[in-house]
Amino acid sequence: SMTIHTGTIAHVRGDPFGAEEALEIIEQGALAIDRSGRIGLLGERNAVFEAFPNSEIIDHGNAWLIPGLIDGHLHFPQFYATAGPGNGLLDWLENTVYPAEASFADELFARAAAERFVRHLLACGTTTAMVFGSQFYDANLALFDAAARSGIRLITGMTLMDRNAPPILLRTAEQSLDPVEKLIGLCRTTPRLYYAITPRFALSCSPALLEMCGALLKCHPETYLQTHINETRTETAAVRAAFPRSRHYLDVYDGFGLITERTMLAHSIHTTDAELDRMAEAACAVCHCPTSNAYLGSGLFPLQKHLTRGIRVAMGTDVGAGTQFSVWRELSQAYKVQQLRDCRLDACHLLYLATLGGAKALGLEHEAGSFETGKSADFFVLDYEQDSYLAARLGRCENAMDQLFCLLHLADERHVGATYVHGRLAAPRNRSLP
Ligand code: GUN
Ligand code: FE
Repeated sequence: SMTIHTGTIAHVRGDPFGAEEALEIIEQGALAIDRSGRIGLLGERNAVFEAFPNSEIIDHGNAWLIPGLIDGHLHFPQFYATAGPGNGLLDWLENTVYPAEASFADELFARAAAERFVRHLLACGTTTAMVFGSQFYDANLALFDAAARSGIRLITGMTLMDRNAPPILLRTAEQSLDPVEKLIGLCRTTPRLYYAITPRFALSCSPALLEMCGALLKCHPETYLQTHINETRTETAAVRAAFPRSRHYLDVYDGFGLITERTMLAHSIHTTDAELDRMAEAACAVCHCPTSNAYLGSGLFPLQKHLTRGIRVAMGTDVGAGTQFSVWRELSQAYKVQQLRDCRLDACHLLYLATLGGAKALGLEHEAGSFETGKSADFFVLDYEQDSYLAARLGRCENAMDQLFCLLHLADERHVGATYVHGRLAAPRNRSLP
């Protein structure tokens, strides 16, 4: 027997940028979830009821059921660093971020923050997140524990840096190796927890540290690698000066074996054609963080240039340069940024980027990102009934696709009624954030 959830079901089944059969919306739909937490069947309400007559039914009324959102990039130790001052990336790192990250040396503080961080993501409908961890081992353990308890799918690792920051945040390659290997071991035995080797960015890392990251990635093929690239012009120029022997920014990472199909590069705004061609060849993924990019004045992401080369693109909030935690709101911001670049996105493109597209960027498309049978039942309930303006606005739409477009711009985390991970209620029906 199954658990059946009813509502309007919306998901993207293929790549709309590659002209695949994509958006599916089923009004009066139902989602049957088996005992192991996986999608059993999706369809019209009555057909699903007939297929599994003795099931528990959870009726979500007119609410929409949408695959769990995938946040491809954010920073755990910046949980309380949102909306901080800074004159561009490098000044913001020095004056807002590094002091905030240093406070995660306090284990009790980090434990409380980890609990709230994970609950906050779930309350926004995020069921999978790729996260920069703390520089402090115990703070990462706290994050692992909070993630395991909640069931969220987390890809994370210790943020590594050995230069250009306050000494308390710095560890040499030698000092980093043992804690990282321990954390990699812990991820092996925890469901839905994956390790990402996390050199902060080229300016924080000596060649010796980047070399260690390359060795770790090679030695542990199940791990990911995450870092930043070409976020601001000032940063890119500084990297050129710091690594004069590299052809370009990507080449710094590439020279140490860090650019693979398991690699996620955040930002990629000022990336050259030569770098884009190499990204495509190496099959790495890129994370677009439009709120952060506007907040720091970094630039307008060239989405089309990445997509035409077949580079996989995920969406990210990049908290704390991002000022909010909702990947859904990030989609509305992405739409506006692409408008400024003469790139018109529709509802299907947007939903894809935050769900199946993000899953593909993380190599998790067999597990998450859509309601295909056999995938993990990760979804959230978007419930706008209590919002009389939004209900009236949707009532004036011609069709469900137009309604989805409205929801993408007008709904936010306050409309997330509940979030389920692997079939289990992970964030309860609650309209106020924890
Ligand atoms: N580049 C290096 N570190 C960071 C960070 O913490 N946030 C952002 N947005 N860019 C970075
Ligand atoms: Fe970032």
